[in-house]
Amino acid sequence: MTQETATAAVIPARGRTSAPREIDVQRVRADFPILERTVHGKPLVYLDNAATTQKPRVVLDAIASYYTSINANVHRGVHELSERATEAYEASRERVRAFFNAASTREIIFTRNATEGINLVAQSFARPLLTAGDEVLISAMEHHSNIVPWQLACAATGARLAVAPIDDRGDVILEELERRLTPRTRLLAITHMSNALGTITPVREIVGMAQAHGVPVLIDASQAAYHMRLDVQALGCDFLVATGHKLYGPTGIGVLYGRESRLEAMPPFLGGGDMIASVSFEGSTWNVLPYKFEAGTPHMAGAVGLHAALDYIDAVGFESIAAHEAQLLAYATQALEEIPGIRLIGTARRKGSILSFVMDGVHPHDIGTIVDREGVAIRTGHHCAQPVMERFGVPATARASLAMYNTREEIDALAAALRKVREVFA
Ligand SMILES: Cc1ncc(COP(=O)(O)O)c(C=O)c1O
Repeated sequence: MTQETATAAVIPARGRTSAPREIDVQRVRADFPILERTVHGKPLVYLDNAATTQKPRVVLDAIASYYTSINANVHRGVHELSERATEAYEASRERVRAFFNAASTREIIFTRNATEGINLVAQSFARPLLTAGDEVLISAMEHHSNIVPWQLACAATGARLAVAPIDDRGDVILEELERRLTPRTRLLAITHMSNALGTITPVREIVGMAQAHGVPVLIDASQAAYHMRLDVQALGCDFLVATGHKLYGPTGIGVLYGRESRLEAMPPFLGGGDMIASVSFEGSTWNVLPYKFEAGTPHMAGAVGLHAALDYIDAVGFESIAAHEAQLLAYATQALEEIPGIRLIGTARRKGSILSFVMDGVHPHDIGTIVDREGVAIRTGHHCAQPVMERFGVPATARASLAMYNTREEIDALAAALRKVREVFA
């Protein structure tokens, strides 16, 4: 789909001038070829968006077009295709810069995913800084990707992982977080939106708190980035990670934003081609930013696909996406609350479009299996957030997560499938 047709997928809200334009959800759905398929003979109802989102045709076309017309290795050749491939790759970097409002493309590192971005910061920023007794502070609702890299850095240095608790709704307890910003805290790494609970954290306020204590901040925006506009300069963070496959883009491409002064001071993460200025057996010197952190042949097609995905998101518009998802979340919350025996896990004051829940007497895995037979794709398990499950005293939850193309009819299909689960286990 072109930018113009994506723009046509939103329609002005009737009788209001300042409200966001409503999404024409059927137009949006028509842009996602996979949504046409059936599962077990039923129309696919895809509610596993927090795990990965589906891809609009423009993204698939951009990737195919890259491979059919300009594929070559970047930054190396003087031939036409290599120059075109380099242009496309760097154009994507500029698109990502603009999307997150970074000050410079030197601050945008392409990674494989959010996980790699966090590991890069853990190894190249935290590890050289940490000494025995220092602390890395996280919250109690982090994804394993924002726990384990810090544990590795702590284990290598004798530092300690400190954890800010969350309350029964799934909100970070800010006073407790602030109490844990001690003179030994070297970094705060926190999610902007929890994949297990849907909680949206007040990151601007949290960054302010950390800055008052002189503590740099990494924001895990893996979930938030496809629901809301993020501006790294307004947030004031030192690092932010996002992952392409949740941004309606391809797998295998992620983004690390790093404040230039921080990145400049950091040693490389991985060594190899492209990240060097010179190599000899006596020693090597490093390339300039951002290339110092991009060793080896990058995922050019992934970057091109991500570029198309970000164009698509912006053409639909975050205001419209957020309004649509908020309406859908309210509708889904009510629908689930009306089903006997269902309990929502995560009722934060500010929530993104994720519903984690348990059902009395039914294991989440059974819920997932039965609703799948109705064509409804939800996730069940610990959602790579085992400490969150422990905090709420459940082994696992079922999770429905919504995106811009989901509809009320799909929520109705989920609710009907969940009522079937109740009947089976009655
Ligand atoms: C909050 C959060 N952080 C990090 C990640 C890791 O993303 P990736 O596996 O793409 O690196 C995820 C993925 O589910 C996530 O939801």
